[in-house]
Amino acid sequence: MGTSGFIEIEAPTEDSERTGANVVRGMTEQLLVASVDTALMAQNVAIAAESEGLGICYIGGIRNNPQAISDLLHLPEHVYPVFGICLGYPAADPNVKPRLPVEAILKEDYYTDDSELVAAFDDAMQDYLQ
Ligand SMILES: Cc1cc2nc3c(=O)[nH]c(=O)nc-3n(C[C@H](O)[C@H](O)[C@H](O)COP(=O)(O)O)c2cc1C
Repeated sequence: MGTSGFIEIEAPTEDSERTGANVVRGMTEQLLVASVDTALMAQNVAIAAESEGLGICYIGGIRNNPQAISDLLHLPEHVYPVFGICLGYPAADPNVKPRLPVEAILKEDYYTDDSELVAAFDDAMQDYLQ
Protein backbone atom coordinates (compact mmCIF):
# COMPACT_ATOMS: atom_id res chain seq x y z
CA MET A 1 0.00 0.00 0.00
CA GLY A 2 1.30 3.45 -0.81
CA THR A 3 1.34 6.37 1.57
CA SER A 4 -2.07 7.41 0.20
CA GLY A 5 -3.58 4.21 1.60
CA PHE A 6 -4.34 2.91 -1.88
CA ILE A 7 -2.67 -0.12 -3.41
CA GLU A 8 -0.19 0.97 -6.05
CA ILE A 9 -0.44 -0.76 -9.41
CA GLU A 10 2.90 -0.73 -11.17
CA ALA A 11 4.41 -1.28 -14.58
CA PRO A 12 3.64 -4.65 -16.18
CA THR A 13 5.99 -7.61 -15.95
CA GLU A 14 6.41 -10.48 -18.40
CA ASP A 15 3.95 -12.58 -16.34
CA SER A 16 1.36 -9.86 -15.98
CA GLU A 17 1.45 -9.14 -19.70
CA ARG A 18 0.94 -12.84 -20.44
CA THR A 19 -1.98 -13.20 -18.02
CA GLY A 20 -3.44 -9.71 -18.26
CA ALA A 21 -3.18 -9.28 -14.46
CA ASN A 22 -2.24 -6.06 -12.71
CA VAL A 23 1.06 -5.94 -10.83
CA VAL A 24 0.76 -4.93 -7.21
CA ARG A 25 4.15 -4.72 -5.52
CA GLY A 26 5.45 -4.46 -2.02
CA MET A 27 2.86 -6.56 -0.19
CA THR A 28 3.97 -8.87 2.63
CA GLU A 29 1.19 -11.24 1.55
CA GLN A 30 2.95 -11.95 -1.74
CA LEU A 31 6.24 -12.66 -0.01
CA LEU A 32 4.49 -14.97 2.45
CA VAL A 33 2.52 -16.90 -0.17
CA ALA A 34 5.58 -17.41 -2.36
CA SER A 35 7.78 -18.45 0.58
CA VAL A 36 5.18 -20.80 2.07
CA ASP A 37 4.55 -22.41 -1.33
CA THR A 38 8.30 -22.95 -1.65
CA ALA A 39 8.51 -24.52 1.81
CA LEU A 40 5.58 -26.83 1.05
CA MET A 41 7.26 -28.01 -2.13
CA ALA A 42 10.59 -28.44 -0.38
CA GLN A 43 9.06 -30.48 2.42
CA ASN A 44 7.55 -32.83 -0.16
CA VAL A 45 11.03 -33.17 -1.66
CA ALA A 46 12.40 -33.92 1.82
CA ILE A 47 9.81 -36.61 2.50
CA ALA A 48 10.27 -38.20 -0.94
CA ALA A 49 14.07 -38.16 -0.55
CA GLU A 50 13.99 -39.66 2.94
CA SER A 51 11.59 -42.38 1.78
CA GLU A 52 14.33 -43.40 -0.70
CA GLY A 53 17.06 -43.48 1.96
CA LEU A 54 18.50 -40.06 1.19
CA GLY A 55 19.15 -37.36 3.77
CA ILE A 56 18.55 -33.64 3.37
CA CYS A 57 19.50 -30.40 5.05
CA TYR A 58 17.83 -27.10 4.37
CA ILE A 59 20.30 -24.27 3.85
CA GLY A 60 18.89 -20.89 4.80
CA GLY A 61 22.49 -19.68 4.69
CA ILE A 62 22.03 -18.93 1.00
CA ARG A 63 20.16 -15.83 2.12
CA ASN A 64 23.40 -14.51 3.60
CA ASN A 65 24.29 -13.29 0.12
CA PRO A 66 21.15 -13.36 -2.02
CA GLN A 67 22.64 -11.36 -4.88
CA ALA A 68 25.53 -13.81 -5.38
CA ILE A 69 23.10 -16.74 -5.31
CA SER A 70 20.75 -14.99 -7.73
CA ASP A 71 23.66 -14.36 -10.11
CA LEU A 72 24.97 -17.92 -9.79
CA LEU A 73 21.56 -19.43 -10.52
CA HIS A 74 20.64 -16.86 -13.19
CA LEU A 75 17.42 -16.10 -11.32
CA PRO A 76 15.10 -13.88 -13.34
CA GLU A 77 13.79 -10.61 -11.99
CA HIS A 78 11.19 -11.00 -9.20
CA VAL A 79 12.58 -14.42 -8.21
CA TYR A 80 14.46 -14.69 -4.90
CA PRO A 81 16.28 -17.51 -3.10
CA VAL A 82 14.42 -18.76 -0.01
CA PHE A 83 16.67 -21.69 0.94
CA GLY A 84 18.71 -24.46 -0.60
CA ILE A 85 18.48 -28.17 0.04
CA CYS A 86 21.55 -30.40 0.34
CA LEU A 87 20.51 -33.87 -0.69
CA GLY A 88 22.57 -37.04 -0.59
CA TYR A 89 23.26 -40.36 1.06
CA PRO A 90 24.22 -39.66 4.69
CA ALA A 91 27.77 -40.63 5.64
CA ALA A 92 26.73 -40.96 9.30
CA ASP A 93 23.60 -41.95 11.17
CA PRO A 94 23.45 -39.48 14.04
CA ASN A 95 21.07 -39.80 16.95
CA VAL A 96 17.73 -38.13 16.44
CA LYS A 97 17.85 -34.68 17.99
CA PRO A 98 15.68 -33.99 21.02
CA ARG A 99 12.19 -32.86 20.04
CA LEU A 100 9.72 -30.65 21.81
CA PRO A 101 6.83 -32.79 23.03
CA VAL A 102 3.73 -32.74 20.85
CA GLU A 103 1.76 -30.76 23.45
CA ALA A 104 4.23 -27.90 23.06
CA ILE A 105 3.59 -27.72 19.32
CA LEU A 106 0.06 -28.89 18.65
CA LYS A 107 -2.59 -26.73 20.32
CA GLU A 108 -6.31 -27.27 20.54
CA ASP A 109 -8.57 -24.20 20.70
CA TYR A 110 -6.00 -21.88 22.27
CA TYR A 111 -2.31 -21.34 22.85
CA THR A 112 -0.79 -22.36 26.19
CA ASP A 113 2.32 -21.38 28.12
CA ASP A 114 5.04 -23.92 27.40
CA SER A 115 7.93 -22.34 29.26
CA GLU A 116 8.55 -25.45 31.39
CA LEU A 117 8.46 -27.76 28.37
CA VAL A 118 10.77 -25.42 26.48
CA ALA A 119 13.20 -25.23 29.43
CA ALA A 120 13.29 -29.05 29.59
CA PHE A 121 13.88 -29.14 25.83
CA ASP A 122 16.76 -26.66 26.14
CA ASP A 123 18.39 -28.90 28.77
CA ALA A 124 17.94 -31.98 26.57
CA MET A 125 19.43 -30.13 23.60
CA GLN A 126 22.45 -29.05 25.65
CA ASP A 127 23.03 -32.71 26.61
CA TYR A 128 22.63 -33.77 22.98
CA LEU A 129 25.12 -31.16 21.76
CA GLN A 130 27.72 -32.34 24.30
C1 LIG B 1 14.49 -22.90 6.47
C2 LIG B 1 15.64 -23.64 7.08
C3 LIG B 1 16.93 -23.19 6.88
C4 LIG B 1 18.02 -23.90 7.40
N1 LIG B 1 19.28 -23.47 7.13
C5 LIG B 1 20.34 -24.17 7.56
C6 LIG B 1 21.67 -23.76 7.25
O1 LIG B 1 21.88 -22.75 6.58
N2 LIG B 1 22.69 -24.53 7.69
C7 LIG B 1 22.48 -25.69 8.41
O2 LIG B 1 23.44 -26.35 8.77
N3 LIG B 1 21.23 -26.07 8.71
C8 LIG B 1 20.17 -25.37 8.30
N4 LIG B 1 18.90 -25.79 8.60
C9 LIG B 1 18.73 -27.06 9.32
C10 LIG B 1 18.49 -26.81 10.80
O3 LIG B 1 19.68 -26.34 11.35
C11 LIG B 1 18.08 -28.08 11.54
O4 LIG B 1 19.12 -28.99 11.47
C12 LIG B 1 16.88 -28.74 11.02
O5 LIG B 1 15.90 -27.85 10.61
C13 LIG B 1 16.30 -29.57 12.14
O6 LIG B 1 15.98 -30.77 11.63
P1 LIG B 1 16.33 -32.04 12.47
O7 LIG B 1 15.92 -31.73 13.88
O8 LIG B 1 15.51 -33.11 11.83
O9 LIG B 1 17.79 -32.25 12.31
C14 LIG B 1 17.81 -25.08 8.14
C15 LIG B 1 16.49 -25.51 8.37
C16 LIG B 1 15.43 -24.80 7.86
C17 LIG B 1 14.02 -25.32 8.10
